[in-house]
Amino acid sequence: MALITTKEMFKKAYEGGYSIGAFNISNLEQLQGVLEGAKAKNSFVMIQASKSAIEYAGINTLVAMVKTASDEIGVDVALHLDHGPDFETVKKCIDAGFTSVMIDGSHHDFETNVKMTKEVVDYAHSKGVVVEAELGVLAGVEDDVVADSHVYTEPDEAVEFVERTGVDSLAIAIGTSHGAFKFKGEAKLRFDILEEIQNRLPGFPIVLHGASAVDQESVATCNKYGGDIAGAKGVPVDMLRKASSMAVCKINMDTDLRLAMTAALRKFMAENPSVFDPRKYLAVGRDAIKMVVEDKIDNVLGSENSAK
Ligand code: G3H
Ligand code: 13P
Ligand code: ZN
Repeated sequence: MALITTKEMFKKAYEGGYSIGAFNISNLEQLQGVLEGAKAKNSFVMIQASKSAIEYAGINTLVAMVKTASDEIGVDVALHLDHGPDFETVKKCIDAGFTSVMIDGSHHDFETNVKMTKEVVDYAHSKGVVVEAELGVLAGVEDDVVADSHVYTEPDEAVEFVERTGVDSLAIAIGTSHGAFKFKGEAKLRFDILEEIQNRLPGFPIVLHGASAVDQESVATCNKYGGDIAGAKGVPVDMLRKASSMAVCKINMDTDLRLAMTAALRKFMAENPSVFDPRKYLAVGRDAIKMVVEDKIDNVLGSENSAK
């Protein structure tokens, strides 16, 4: 088993009308939960880590852990840098063994974003690594960057951006946002923008960030056992399915895993006050993540048996 790029998985996903789940991790149990879920469903998945997650785990520890777990659990997996802020961070990840990187120049002006992305594409491609970029701005918080409102992706700009940078996939802004509080009123995504980009860039893989569904049962469990999460709302599952059946080949989910793990841990701790062996409670969090990943593969991504 090995760390692989996204080339084959995205091609199959595009042609098959499904998506690959990209799940954020920063520790061993999250990693094992995702890989075990993928294994159970015979599905491709991507493991992704943000700059702050990499700082938390240690870059070499993270790469070694993903490689070894992929081998031990028996799944090929792409290891991806999520929201790479600059060339230096991206280069460090490529040099450490990541097979896929994101350069996120979405908060810069168009020309700067093109320049940043092109520089990363040239380096990454020379090392056999694939690149995701972002155009348009998602509302909410991404690592250290906060945006108050969406700036939807312009299809004309998307075409020009892809042509000028040679990027392998593109994250677009159609109304999703990061975190657990995505919509105040009714959920709405701009499928018209996705459709136009798909028509103008046929066969090109599109990425959807901020795509957690924010399971209300997990939120309720967190709150029942001492949590304080009010007004959380995610992207409806039917909208995610629709996006998967279109040009979206990669769906990013972090919040749903955090909520599931936290709910499981809070419940376990409350019900087992005498347990203090971390393996006992962390295994419960790991199992919760495995279940979420399996559910996503079945009900959101449609990627079961993609790794065959
Ligand atoms: O897009 C943001 C991801 O959810 C990563 O979040 O920077 O807290 O690791 P993080
Ligand atoms: P969520 O916050 O919706 O899980 O999105 C995660 C994400 O887009 C990571 O890049
Ligand atoms: Zn994101």
